[in-house]
Amino acid sequence: MASSGSADLVIVANRLPVDRVTLPDGTQGWRQSPGGLVTAIEPILRANQGTWIGWPGGTETEDELEPFEDEGMNLVPMAMTADEVEDHYEGFSNATLWPLYHDVVAKPEFHREWWNSYSAVNRRFAERAAEEAAEGATVWVQDYQMQLVPQMLRELRPDLRIGFFLHIPFPPTELFQQLPWRRQILEGLLGADLVGFQLSGAAQNFVRLVRQRVGHKTHRDLVYLPDGRTVKAAAFPISIDSAGFEELARSEQVEERAVEIREQLGNPQKVFLGVDRLDYTKGIYARLRAFAELIEDGELDVGEAVFVQVATPSREQVEQYRILRDDIDRLVGRINGDLGRIGSPAISYLHASFPREEMAALYRAADVMVVTPFRDGMNLVAKEYVACRFDNDGALVLSEFAGAAEELRQAWQINPYDINGMKSALLDACRAEPRDVTRRMKAMRKQVMEHDVAAWADSFLAELGSLGKAHGKSVRPAKRG
Ligand code: ADP
Ligand code: G6P
Repeated sequence: MASSGSADLVIVANRLPVDRVTLPDGTQGWRQSPGGLVTAIEPILRANQGTWIGWPGGTETEDELEPFEDEGMNLVPMAMTADEVEDHYEGFSNATLWPLYHDVVAKPEFHREWWNSYSAVNRRFAERAAEEAAEGATVWVQDYQMQLVPQMLRELRPDLRIGFFLHIPFPPTELFQQLPWRRQILEGLLGADLVGFQLSGAAQNFVRLVRQRVGHKTHRDLVYLPDGRTVKAAAFPISIDSAGFEELARSEQVEERAVEIREQLGNPQKVFLGVDRLDYTKGIYARLRAFAELIEDGELDVGEAVFVQVATPSREQVEQYRILRDDIDRLVGRINGDLGRIGSPAISYLHASFPREEMAALYRAADVMVVTPFRDGMNLVAKEYVACRFDNDGALVLSEFAGAAEELRQAWQINPYDINGMKSALLDACRAEPRDVTRRMKAMRKQVMEHDVAAWADSFLAELGSLGKAHGKSVRPAKRG
């Protein structure tokens, strides 16, 4: 057994919650990392004074990066070489696993050197977790970039409680079987005591695959390993800091900014909003086309309706992402060129990342929130919108292929592959009777406010605690609100 460190809760994720960036004056600074994983896990770790092991972006070497503290969290930066960024991160994680796990929306590529790099990076992260974790500590491994860590860590530190949570969808068995390294991935995950998924169908797929491909005995949500260990697979739908978002939305500063945003847009009758990482799974192209066709059909008027699309740059070195960025740039240019008027573009397109206050103001300013992924693990943006609509106003158009669709049943649900269906839903949502809008939003708000990220983490960690070693220390629930 490797010698133990002092942390009672360790998060292992590909990314740290902050990214190292070079500021305009040439000095180095930190900025919040993009994506739903960081939004969800950060408040939990702060409440527990835990340690977070992850990559800070870039290609610094190990000796340039020292662990540091950030408001109650110990951050342990892990260096990656340029080759590892290319093969582990851009390659195996984001050009093999990401498209494969998202219904092959883009074609996954399989390369043996990418796999080798993925294994090597996973091993280094597991070794670091083994050094940081105290005797009997809880280590919570996050997401598809780290699926081999649970088993590697268990070999080094059998005393630990190990949990794993997959933030993205787990694919149907027929797709997963394409992966040349399918058995290693399943065995990697089985190093955990508890494997968590967004939806129960994903947990069932995983258990079925373990039975078929690894040959272990299973019963319902349990896997029985030959060494006597039991692994549980279950669904834990992730959420947001709902009360925190509502509080922000209620602040005077955000309310003023929301009014200002509408003014800057020319005070249109209806503001449609899309907020996404610039990712081909999100269905941005299809939704903008649907909106443009409604203008061409004469159903909506430029000036009276405007679509604000915020798209955070993401994974820009991966070819599919570069192609997407160019495609959307061209589409927005064409739509505005053809349909816009002076001072009234049809689409207001912002290729930028904003602070939480600005996000809340955008959510407050929007009459119709449009969330149309072809496939999404959960989609926190949909929940953030709901949390900010404390006056029970605002319409949500939501893809049935987002995990959030299981909870937000009162949204106008759409099939993003069906452009005509999407057009009808956009019109229905923007023309709905106020009473109907309120009824739907009230029901969705009850769900989001009652099932926040603290409840999610509590239920995962409580379940893990009940499964793990009897001598392990327990983890404090996250502070609410
Ligand atoms: P994903 O994890 O795939 O990016 P989610 O919708 O689950 O998708 O989570 C996205 C998170 O990133 C949300 O918390 C959202 O507020 C945040 N986000 C998305 N776009 C921006 C942006 N332009 N600026 C700041 N935060 C953003
Ligand atoms: C999604 C994934 C996360 C990832 C995030 C941002 O939320 O589930 O694991 O960190 O996107 O992507 P990036 O590649 O920039 O880390």
